[in-house]
Amino acid sequence: MSHKKQTLGEFIIENQSSFKYSSGELSSLINSIRLAAKVVNHEVNKAGLVDIIGAAGDMNIQGEDQQKLDVYANEKFIQTLTNRNIVCGIASEEEDDFISINSQDENHQNKYIVLIDPLDGSSNIDVNVSVGTIFSIYRRVTPVGTPVTLEDFLQKGSEQVAAGYVVYGTSTMLVYTTGDGVNGFTLNPAIGSFYLSHPDMQFPENGSIYSVNEGNYIHFPQGIKNYIKYCQQEENDRPYTSRYIGSLVSDFHRNMIKGGVYLYPQSSKNPDGKLRLLYECNPMAFLAEQANGKASDGFVRTMDVEPTELHQRVPFICGSKNMVEKAEEFMRKGQ
Ligand code: AHG
Ligand code: MN
Ligand code: MN
Ligand code: MN
Repeated sequence: MSHKKQTLGEFIIENQSSFKYSSGELSSLINSIRLAAKVVNHEVNKAGLVDIIGAAGDMNIQGEDQQKLDVYANEKFIQTLTNRNIVCGIASEEEDDFISINSQDENHQNKYIVLIDPLDGSSNIDVNVSVGTIFSIYRRVTPVGTPVTLEDFLQKGSEQVAAGYVVYGTSTMLVYTTGDGVNGFTLNPAIGSFYLSHPDMQFPENGSIYSVNEGNYIHFPQGIKNYIKYCQQEENDRPYTSRYIGSLVSDFHRNMIKGGVYLYPQSSKNPDGKLRLLYECNPMAFLAEQANGKASDGFVRTMDVEPTELHQRVPFICGSKNMVEKAEEFMRKGQ
């Protein structure tokens, strides 16, 4: 990689003035996510050599068996954000409840809250397939000077001030938005710095990839079944190609670069779908919209869904605009 490329650190400083709430705090926050991402990346890369593969022995609030790397990534992100004293609260897929940060921030002066999926795609850890981290950042809504409350975390996705993900893939990338487009940075592991490798990322308006766990087909609503059949028909640019990694981050990343749609619909087994609104869907929806893509539950824009609980699940259709709209059309006609 050329040494002339801009580093993430340089990029953050240069673009600080475009933040909606111009302050150094959001920059420090993104900086600390960058740091935690490097620490987790280091461990992900050694998986197989060190004792970090396999189940941790506990179950999380989602009813999933926690993997050792789920627990490790969760600890590292929470530790880094807490130690650097820049957030007032954190909620995580791996924690039962939100965490109010007052160990360092006794007077509750910090303004930002973070929601994270510390390790996305846990089922891929043991088999050396890409995993990721997803983060979502909001300004608190309760007054500064008081401890955070659930209200601070149950904000609509449209209130996000920043969101992004790290993909630990063939190379490690950090991709994020502060509401002014989407930029991707690749880690040069020899130097330990992220470099701007994918400026102004955009979903192609049309695509030819559909990503869905077709093993659940029988349980899907009729609208989704019909859309899948449409993807498989021989007509114009179809049939489309099916690609499903099973890590939302990696499936989204590929579809953003190549053009495609990701679907995790409701089913008779999971009436609200599987993906979590606050840790997975909203941050990906913000990125998608910032990259000229689209995200909805089939009927309602994801970022307009009113959250009612921390670990809420929603159906999720996300990706290239025309593909999402086609799937929505099938959902409306559906039943
Ligand atoms: P997590 O590993 O954070 O629990 O998320 C897993 C999610 C998502 O990454 C992925 O797209 C989806 O679950 C895969 O689910 P299925 O195995 O049911 O297809
Ligand atoms: Mn999980
Ligand atoms: Mn996840
Ligand atoms: Mn996870």
